[in-house]
Amino acid sequence: MSDIIFKIDGREVAAQPGETILQAAARIGVEIPTLCYNQKISRTTSCFVCVVKDCKTGKFLPSCSACPAPGQEIDASSDEVKDMRRTALSLLVSEHTGDCEAPCTLACPAHATVEEYVRAGRNGDFKKALEIIKQRIPLPMSVGRVCPRFCERDCRRNIGGKPVSINDVKRLSADMYYDTYMEDLPALNGKRVAIVGAGPAGLSAAYYLRLQGVSSFLFEQMPEAGGMLRYGIPEFRLPKDTLRKELAHFGKMGGIEIRTGQTMGKDFTIEQLEQDFDAVILAVGSWASSSMRIDGEEAAQKGIQWLGDIAGKNWKNCPNPGRTIVVGGGNTAIDCARTALRLGGDVTIVYRRTRNEMPAQAIEVDEAMEEGVKFEFLTAPAALTKNADGSLALSCARMQLGEPDASGRRSPVLIPGSEFKLLADTVISAIGQRTVVPEGFAASKRGFEISADDFTCSGRKKVFAAGDCVSGPATVVEALAAGRKAALSVVDFLNGVPHKAPFEFNVSRGHWRSLAKEDLVYIRQVSDAERIQPEYIPLEERKTTFHELYPTFTPEQVSGEADRCIECSCTGKHDCLLKKHSTAYGVNPDAYKGAKPISAVDVRHKYIIHDKQKCIRCGTCVKVCSEIINKSLLGMMKRGFHTMVDTTFGQGLPDYCVDCGACVKECPTGALDWKKKE
Ligand SMILES: Cc1cc2nc3c(=O)[nH]c(=O)nc-3n(C[C@H](O)[C@H](O)[C@H](O)COP(=O)(O)OP(=O)(O)OC[C@H]3O[C@@H](n4cnc5c(N)ncnc54)[C@H](O)[C@@H]3O)c2cc1C
Ligand code: SF4
Ligand code: SF4
Ligand code: SF4
Ligand code: FES
Repeated sequence: MSDIIFKIDGREVAAQPGETILQAAARIGVEIPTLCYNQKISRTTSCFVCVVKDCKTGKFLPSCSACPAPGQEIDASSDEVKDMRRTALSLLVSEHTGDCEAPCTLACPAHATVEEYVRAGRNGDFKKALEIIKQRIPLPMSVGRVCPRFCERDCRRNIGGKPVSINDVKRLSADMYYDTYMEDLPALNGKRVAIVGAGPAGLSAAYYLRLQGVSSFLFEQMPEAGGMLRYGIPEFRLPKDTLRKELAHFGKMGGIEIRTGQTMGKDFTIEQLEQDFDAVILAVGSWASSSMRIDGEEAAQKGIQWLGDIAGKNWKNCPNPGRTIVVGGGNTAIDCARTALRLGGDVTIVYRRTRNEMPAQAIEVDEAMEEGVKFEFLTAPAALTKNADGSLALSCARMQLGEPDASGRRSPVLIPGSEFKLLADTVISAIGQRTVVPEGFAASKRGFEISADDFTCSGRKKVFAAGDCVSGPATVVEALAAGRKAALSVVDFLNGVPHKAPFEFNVSRGHWRSLAKEDLVYIRQVSDAERIQPEYIPLEERKTTFHELYPTFTPEQVSGEADRCIECSCTGKHDCLLKKHSTAYGVNPDAYKGAKPISAVDVRHKYIIHDKQKCIRCGTCVKVCSEIINKSLLGMMKRGFHTMVDTTFGQGLPDYCVDCGACVKECPTGALDWKKKE
């Protein structure tokens, strides 16, 4: 029989009789995605993801089963066809329930693959854990100590218990291997980037540029690098020697040079950097203290400057601040209070809302209380005066909570006639920070940050910006994430390609608060031990020295803790075709809302997990078992929406299935899978 001549995307193709459009397209290199198609079995044609268009009739055809007709013109790649594929995928996803990624990983602002490094820690392989961590966290010793633990807030072990102590895996892995660890580095490619500010954002940008072969030169105003890690966060939370050890790694990598004592606007200008370097990244943080807007404010110390001053000296030589009032409710306020306490001060924090509204981390408020810091909640400062004896008087008023403001927190309302005075030797204002927007740069709408769209500064082609100076005061891990993104943006700029943040499709079972214990899926027996608790140094030592609050846990303790992890992500995430195509086609998992089939995950088999909620009902497994293996252990049960792949009478797969596993191998999603993870 003679060949069938037809066209795909305007190109003439000769197809053999019986050949499908999909097969002919593959031969000329036109890629068409498939999901239910499997060459080993008879066609199922159930997903429609392989759809193409017959241009003459306007009909859409499943290319995996449709054979071409002579003279036919097939559109396999237009936006219209891609839209149809996206719709087909969206409909499948609308019935789909699972967790492509673990909630801890999704909650990490840097998207460190938490589940994977926790698993490495469980297996006692802390070097591997560090390798995984460093893919997204270039300062793990610091983050392992000061991170607010976004991942733990979303950990599924919160259901009926306490989250896995994830950050301690990071801390231990980094502490164990930092001296010897070195990444595989590419040769330098001759491109040079200037970075202003050697805080977490600037250092992270330098790190990821180096991983791409780009050298960087960091210009830092202070005598040492580290930004707020060095001059904001006090020694008892992050020892300076630990930070120095961590920062030394950047020097060892080669291709990263830190020039300290270099202030932009004084020692050099941005224009000079623009001229001398291929690109510039601003990572200058938020170093200006916000004003309390009260009379006599000039008699108060500015929180971050006060902390920076102490951090620049040996704490043993710093004076006792005496009766100290710290105004504010954030991390800076708590750090000022705990620092003043350690220097011998009698410390009170004045905050205008209640403890519930405090932006500071709860654990730090608890620790401060334990150490003896006193709190005056629902109290606002009104004026500061200096007494004849040199002491200070802070006039205050009591507040009550009113309606929520723009931040969502209930705003404080003054109680008339409630004025009173607090006496002090030192008053520290720690109510917030903002960025000094450099001259010639546009400010954000609020006016407190540099305006940067996708990390590029408005009106400056080769200047990028990242970290607190763009986001406003945030956290170390967020600054690291921003530094990485800015670096990737710069690399694209240097290569002359437009930067596009990659899209990763993800479905989620939902936040742990919306789930019950029965919703948790176990692929192995996990430890039911309580979460590990740190062993603090004695309280007296805490109150009188800047010694670190508690030592790093031992490898045995951390492995035991990691054994509490349920390993929430889908076993099939690395080779799931539904995820792969949905990522490629930018599918929004919430595009169509509809009922989802509800069915318990079958984990009865020792080695195979059958999650019917992830099944796209392609029928592949049923045909593989009957047509190839000749067993017919699986079948399509029920009708319509309730159709489901199941075993006879739902008795589960027999043990001997482990010898074959053909259905597991061919299932295009994680619906039938091995109960094991790498
Ligand atoms: C007291 C305090 C406690 C904190 N506690 C925590 C915590 O527990 N956990 C947490 O995750 N985050 C915490 N943070 C926030 C965190 O430290 C910051 O979000 C993070 O450091 C921001 O990183 P960055 O690189 O954007 O800015 P920064 O760390 O501020 O670094 C900016 C760098 O730019 C330099 N620079 C500024 N202007 C110039 C100039 N003109 N020329 C040259 N160099 C310049 C600065 O000296 C600095 O080194 C805390 C912050 C403070 C102030
Ligand atoms: S089966 Fe695929 S799409 Fe579904 S949760 Fe698993 S990886 Fe994600
Ligand atoms: S149980 Fe493990 S995988 Fe699940 S959210 Fe917690 S740390 Fe992540
Ligand atoms: S379980 Fe069977 S029907 Fe369901 S997606 Fe996997 S192969 Fe297809
Ligand atoms: S209908 Fe063709 S791959 Fe599913």
